[in-house]
Amino acid sequence: MKQTLSPAVPYQKKDLWISQFAHDVTLGLSQHPKSVPSRYFYDKEGDKIFQQIMNMPEYYITSCEHDIFMQQGKKMCQVFHEPGETFNLIEFGAGDGYKTKVLLKKLLEDEADFTYNPVDISKNILEELNTNLKNELPGMKVRPLNMEYFSALSKLSELNTRRNVVLFLGANIGNFSREAAGNFLSRISWYCKPGDLLLLGADLKKDPQIISLAYNDPHGITAAFNLNLLQRMNRELGADFDTNSFVHHTFYEPQSGEVLSYLVSLRRQTVRFAHINMEVSFEAFESIHTETSRKYSLSELEELAADQGFEVLEHFSDERNYFVDSLWKIR
Ligand code: TRP
Repeated sequence: MKQTLSPAVPYQKKDLWISQFAHDVTLGLSQHPKSVPSRYFYDKEGDKIFQQIMNMPEYYITSCEHDIFMQQGKKMCQVFHEPGETFNLIEFGAGDGYKTKVLLKKLLEDEADFTYNPVDISKNILEELNTNLKNELPGMKVRPLNMEYFSALSKLSELNTRRNVVLFLGANIGNFSREAAGNFLSRISWYCKPGDLLLLGADLKKDPQIISLAYNDPHGITAAFNLNLLQRMNRELGADFDTNSFVHHTFYEPQSGEVLSYLVSLRRQTVRFAHINMEVSFEAFESIHTETSRKYSLSELEELAADQGFEVLEHFSDERNYFVDSLWKIR
């Protein structure tokens, strides 16, 4: 599951105790232009639709990274550790392990001595992953950590002097702004020590048509994913969004490398949120920004690494150069 960076703390508004979700929605929809943080895509329903996105051919990201691990995983694993050295493999936002399992298998074949520490804020996902790994890769040392990324990293770093190898896979880094990506990476280097490694997944700049199709598929799955955000507000906040009067809209801007995703109101309307006693008005064609998915060039990644105190060891790309898993070392 995607990481929620702020914890779900209750928040008081006009004598009403409301959830972090309600708080963030209230804030995002009272601003101009309107937005809702993308982490709220991933409720139970959203997780299900995202699985479908990952399985559709237009969303090349998952299969690219899977191929990279199949073809170059062995080589990566050899850089992870010196022969005979024990290390910690730490995965941020572990999810269902579909891609990581390829790497884990290669490490086991190599007889590497490591503990796999999947970190996720979803307890359900971690439990499922743990059971699945026990069946599929029995004998591997697994230590799931149900906490925020950096709490987990600081805990693991305090405990021992082993080398840490941090995995941040998929295109997750692309959902941060440039500045937030820099902060995120600098926090990783802060909690780690020189010689520790980071394997960072990033979607690469490419033919805009290919990118556009990945975020606007002909099956309507991505649209359903984006619109689920409105349904979630209906379910959890008692809102009365008419999802037929909003459309999913995305476009790729090749200079910034950003795919911007919106929900656009097709008419002037007012939406009521029964549970939090709130009303939000939309002009005709007013939009809610829901996600930014940034695509990088290799040189932009190298700049990011250098700025945050990492040395780029190697870029592992697929044959078409659509995606990269870039291996960095902390200086
Ligand atoms: N974080 C994913 C990405 O940027 C999620 C995603 C896929 C997404 N398709 C989307 C988010 C469409 C909003 C709209 O690749």
